[in-house]
Amino acid sequence: MVQNSPMRTHRAGELGADDAGSRVTVAGWVQRRRDHGGVEFFDLRDASGLIQVVVDPEEHPSVHDLRMEFCVRVTGEVRRRPEGTENPELPTGDVEIGAADIEILAPSKTLPFMLDDRRDVDEMVRLKHRYLDLRRPRMAANLRARSKATAAIRRTLDGEGFLEVETPTLVNSTPEGARDMLVPSRLQQGEFYALPQSPQLFKQLLMISGVERYFQIARCYRDEDSRADRQLEFTQLDLEGAFWAEDDVLDTIETVLAEVVRDLRGIEIATPFQRLTWRDAMNRFGTDKPDLRFAMEITDLSDVFADTGFGVFSSALEDDGTVKAINAGPQEWPRSRADAITDRAKELGAKGLVWVVVEEDGAVRSPVAKFFSDTETKGLIEQLDAGPGDVILIAADKWRTVVDVLGGLRLDLGRPQGHAELAFLWVVDFPLFEEDEDGEITFSHHPFTSPASIDQMRDDPENAISRAYDVVLNGVELGSGSIRIHDPDVQRQVFEILGIDEETAERRFGWFLEALQYGTPPHGGFAFGIDRLVMVLQNEPSIREVIPFPKTQSGQDPMTGAPTWVEPIQLRELGVELGAEAKLRKEASPSPEPADTQTD
Ligand code: AMO
Ligand code: AMP
Repeated sequence: MVQNSPMRTHRAGELGADDAGSRVTVAGWVQRRRDHGGVEFFDLRDASGLIQVVVDPEEHPSVHDLRMEFCVRVTGEVRRRPEGTENPELPTGDVEIGAADIEILAPSKTLPFMLDDRRDVDEMVRLKHRYLDLRRPRMAANLRARSKATAAIRRTLDGEGFLEVETPTLVNSTPEGARDMLVPSRLQQGEFYALPQSPQLFKQLLMISGVERYFQIARCYRDEDSRADRQLEFTQLDLEGAFWAEDDVLDTIETVLAEVVRDLRGIEIATPFQRLTWRDAMNRFGTDKPDLRFAMEITDLSDVFADTGFGVFSSALEDDGTVKAINAGPQEWPRSRADAITDRAKELGAKGLVWVVVEEDGAVRSPVAKFFSDTETKGLIEQLDAGPGDVILIAADKWRTVVDVLGGLRLDLGRPQGHAELAFLWVVDFPLFEEDEDGEITFSHHPFTSPASIDQMRDDPENAISRAYDVVLNGVELGSGSIRIHDPDVQRQVFEILGIDEETAERRFGWFLEALQYGTPPHGGFAFGIDRLVMVLQNEPSIREVIPFPKTQSGQDPMTGAPTWVEPIQLRELGVELGAEAKLRKEASPSPEPADTQTD
């Protein structure tokens, strides 16, 4: 219970019928004033909720000075509202305060936007005055939800014997696949710290230290383009356990997530979560983060069209490719829509898209129907379990292109709005390596992930499976983890396959390879994005809605103006000089005003 300070005797949202007859003092902000001819009403809001205040303007003419969001203190008697005027939607809706004294603690300027949740306000304006935006009920609820989530995480892990350990934020680069944010050193001019992309190596060191069960609510930094589910800085629940195998990690994460959902949504989620291998997820849903709230699964048609005379399909199959389809169900299908979906497929990487509408009599309508044999048409309808009116979309190409395209279309056509329902799953058996944009081999999770088989990693790296796993919620990648390499020799081999030569490995990770040589216990762990989890549970479209002070797409803060130019002396002290392009930019725009107006 929060102690009542002398400033007030009660919190507004906690008053109820039991308080009727008592004299109280409350303090908060003026919200929604109403003049009912001779009687003035306003809602007084504090962090706990709202209470209606009734004022007789003849007795208190100062009530006319009150404006929206003035900060006030009111003393008066709590009384039951007259019968018929109760508000059942409001926790304090049975009562009101008859004001005996109103004191303005602080006036407010005219608001830049209404704090009413029903109004849409431009996000740049909201971010510029985030402190006001956070007064809005929806945003205040998101702040509370986030606090509840971290409390649930701490409570659960404390109960399971985890130690909360802080790791540094001025570190050496940790390779997680993104660009590092760098901080120049003043004392060692020319040298830089990196901000951690995650506490990955430190938590592994803690396993070597004998901590056995570690967690941290860790701020992470990645210099990558922001999106609805990505920011430059974000927060992970990071954890690690020694003498752990996959099930230990998965069980722990399920326990934590179940507790957070219980506290935020008041529901029990079923555990253990469904598990899909990466290969199955890709084949059936065309993504490594499937949204399982709807079916529309990808179906393989390579057998149906094995001997087809339709060139588009036969040449894909001859070229080691595949033919797959989704049944998009009954759809309005005018030409314009068919063209739009085909264009979308091309955006997703397809060379084209075949659409087939199933007619009443089992016949089909499609620009290429004439190329299909009767057996092919029949096979197609059967495989996709299609009925009259259903629209089938077929792609033929290399496997990866086909599943990417159909996976993308599946989401466009079937994904539910919002997050009323929750569908958790594990994706396991990720590939150990993947190709980067330049066709070079790179790690898929991070280079400290254990291969499922060392022999397979050496002999067939392209197909090697790792001991990495992801947790997915409603098509959002919530988190990732893996069983780690604890043998320095295996770690060296991974660096070698990744093309990191011995000298580079020694220079960048020598300190870590050294640490691995002192009796490192087998260990594994996980990290999930707290921003993303709270976003889904609060039914928000972007993590910006659940981050108290987020940045825009170009990494700016419209309120403080960060990032800004710094004084030349500061740069000199750091031994840092602006390049020619930066100097030009500075001359063109010497003020720190944020330049962008975009959030997404
Ligand atoms: P990974 O890089 O997959 O794993 O990150 C784990 C989770 O962190 C969240 N996340 C982000 N959230 C918001 N903005 C971002 N830019 C961003 N980047 C990542 C996601 C993601 O699933 N050290 C490993 C974990 C481990 O192996 O234990 C790691 O960081 O929710
Ligand atoms: P084309 O021979 O390129 O005129 O294509 C004939 C039909 O097949 C058109 O409807 C294309 O959209 C479609 N198509 C072309 N390439 C592919 C592909 N790779 N997968 C599926 N359909 C395709």
